[in-house]
Amino acid sequence: MPTLFKRPAACLIVGALALALTGAQVAVAADKDPPPRVANGLAQKPPMGWNSWNKFACDIDEQTVRRMADAMASNGMKAAGYEYIVIDDCWHGPRDAGGFITYDAKRFPSGIKALSDYVHAKGLKFGIYSDAGRLTCGGRPGSQGHEFQDAKTYADWGVDYLKYDWCSTGTRNAEEAYTLMADALREAGRDIVFSMCEWGTAKPWLWASSIGNLWRTTGDITDKWDGKHDYALGVLRIVDLNEPLYPFAGPGHWNDPDMLEVGNGGLTNTEYQSHFSLWALMAAPLIAGNDIADMDEATRAILLNTDVIAVNQDALGVQGRRIRDDGDLEVWSKQLADGGRAVILFNRGAEARTVSVDWTELGYPAGLKAEVRDLWAKKGLGRMKGRFAATTPSHGVVMVRITP
Ligand code: GLA
Repeated sequence: MPTLFKRPAACLIVGALALALTGAQVAVAADKDPPPRVANGLAQKPPMGWNSWNKFACDIDEQTVRRMADAMASNGMKAAGYEYIVIDDCWHGPRDAGGFITYDAKRFPSGIKALSDYVHAKGLKFGIYSDAGRLTCGGRPGSQGHEFQDAKTYADWGVDYLKYDWCSTGTRNAEEAYTLMADALREAGRDIVFSMCEWGTAKPWLWASSIGNLWRTTGDITDKWDGKHDYALGVLRIVDLNEPLYPFAGPGHWNDPDMLEVGNGGLTNTEYQSHFSLWALMAAPLIAGNDIADMDEATRAILLNTDVIAVNQDALGVQGRRIRDDGDLEVWSKQLADGGRAVILFNRGAEARTVSVDWTELGYPAGLKAEVRDLWAKKGLGRMKGRFAATTPSHGVVMVRITP
């Protein structure tokens, strides 16, 4: 995809020109809020891939990364749309005499370029991690003061995705710091998806869509169903923080409620199914955070559910949202490009309960007959008129696709 960076000033000029030429069309677009803004033209759909952090943390090396690339290319994940292999924190060595970043030569003896070549040879893309401060969260060298050098190094290594963290940033202004690295990436001349990991502290949804492609909306996820655990948050906490931000997501600029914990062992499979369903419906990046070379059947069935993935990757790029909240019972909906809706019936309670949705809640006429497909049972339920109801397990979902 061609690199297409537009600064806000350029947008204004282009907008003014367009207004002069096609006043009526632009007037319609101008009614929408927020206005269309473009960072780099990348990530038109939520990025899909794997990241080392949730499972391996700092215990990462080239053997492990290769194993993950082999697995993604051969276990059905690549065919299902997973694409990026991203090394998170702790790959770094010291800076050299010229200030250029090096890699940990013990853990990555073949070097990062060789690893990136390996990943590319599998038909996958390669991502890396840095930080806007002096040090990364794992205490490795950050990019502050070395932004242009680092972006050039990443481009030389064939990096396709940069996750850029926010530790040790002191009093830095987030918008400025992320803009500086976006400028450096543009200058480096390679298409690099820019993942901004600022944890939602400075409300990046308000300013980041012209800078990068995805921004974390919350603190770190942990492999728990709910609650706060030290500095990290359970799945439900993250869901409730990310949900209200639906107006700010769209093609090329996504809310990021953090990487998946599916398969890491802290939740039941029913809960992991809910986690994956809600991430898919919220148009979140689907970045697996488990050992994808060693998955049980239940984990595979979740991460490889192509019906659910299709909801996430839908061309319209709408972030779905909660449309009804009856305490423990919720209904969620995401508008799809074909005029359909993905719907999640969600039960937070301790007992199985029946949850229902009326077509009118989805913006359809009550008398409409629509096709209903159960995305976890993977079967068509026939044409239904007016509403759909199903028994929803404790902590579980029923996820359907409704097509008029
Ligand atoms: C922060 C980020 C995490 C991970 C770690 C690495 O906590 O939010 O996603 O990248 O740093 O140290």
